[in-house]
Amino acid sequence: MTDKYAVIGNPIAHSKSPLIHHMFAAQTGQDISYEAILAPLDGFAATVERLRAEGYKGCNVTVPFKFEAFHLATSVEPRAKIAKAVNTLKFANNEIIGDNTDGIGLTDDLQFNLEIDLKNKRVLLVGAGGAASGVVYSLASLSARVTVVNRNIEKAQLLATPRLPFPANNAKKHDSNRIDALGYADLADQQFDIIINATSAGLMDEMPDIPKTIFAPGALAYDMMYGRDTPFMKFAREHGAAVVSDGLGMLVEQAAESFRIWRNVRPDTRPVLKKLRAELPIA
Ligand code: ATR
Repeated sequence: MTDKYAVIGNPIAHSKSPLIHHMFAAQTGQDISYEAILAPLDGFAATVERLRAEGYKGCNVTVPFKFEAFHLATSVEPRAKIAKAVNTLKFANNEIIGDNTDGIGLTDDLQFNLEIDLKNKRVLLVGAGGAASGVVYSLASLSARVTVVNRNIEKAQLLATPRLPFPANNAKKHDSNRIDALGYADLADQQFDIIINATSAGLMDEMPDIPKTIFAPGALAYDMMYGRDTPFMKFAREHGAAVVSDGLGMLVEQAAESFRIWRNVRPDTRPVLKKLRAELPIA
């Protein structure tokens, strides 16, 4: 019997997740189906209930339902608790287990695809909404020196405040003192090794108000959006970033971690990323 999975979002039509999971399944010999499901804005819980009733084994959750998924889950993994957001649900017996693979998706892309050692790197995380919240502690847990900047500085401060101790086996790695919160005006004269755009500004063809002097020699500029050359990416190229990346690698890596949670097999992400990149070149 084919095991059924899906991604639920609104909008969802352009999701690459079905393509990615079908490639993972072919590569690992797993018998699964995976489809994109549009849920009405007030219909997320009902959609999850329908999938469970129809015998689905799990689903991914994307904008705008990650927060709702966090509350719907009957148990939540520590990293999703910290993020206060869930992007992966696993249906097991009567349980709905919630997890968040966005953080590890980003750090795997940075470490293994872009070959960056995060330890002691000065990381500027731009934005303090849902996208930033999913990744801030994963960056800090790899000993990056994370600064969160946001227009609404209270949201940045909230993100920089530990919400939960890391699980015991990660306790030593996590140094919450490394997370700072700033407003844009505080960025003058500061430089960072890695600047990550986690704002939604690119959706409106806008960019956050970062100074052009922000890029340290050799800096990486990373936009968590994919499939378009954002104003942030263009700005970074013009003002000295050595490497500029969109978030396509993060998309593939977070999917691989969801696949592992469901199937207990870790797919090789490289050929999948290569194929998607050929379809979605940047610049
Ligand atoms: P998401 O889940 O995509 O993170 P969100 O929770 O609505 O969406 O958060 C959007 C983030 O983008 C916020 O950090 C927001 O900044 P504020 O909290 O100060 O509003 C940020 N953002 C959106 N448009 C922006 C812009 N033009 N310049 C700077 N930041 C922007």
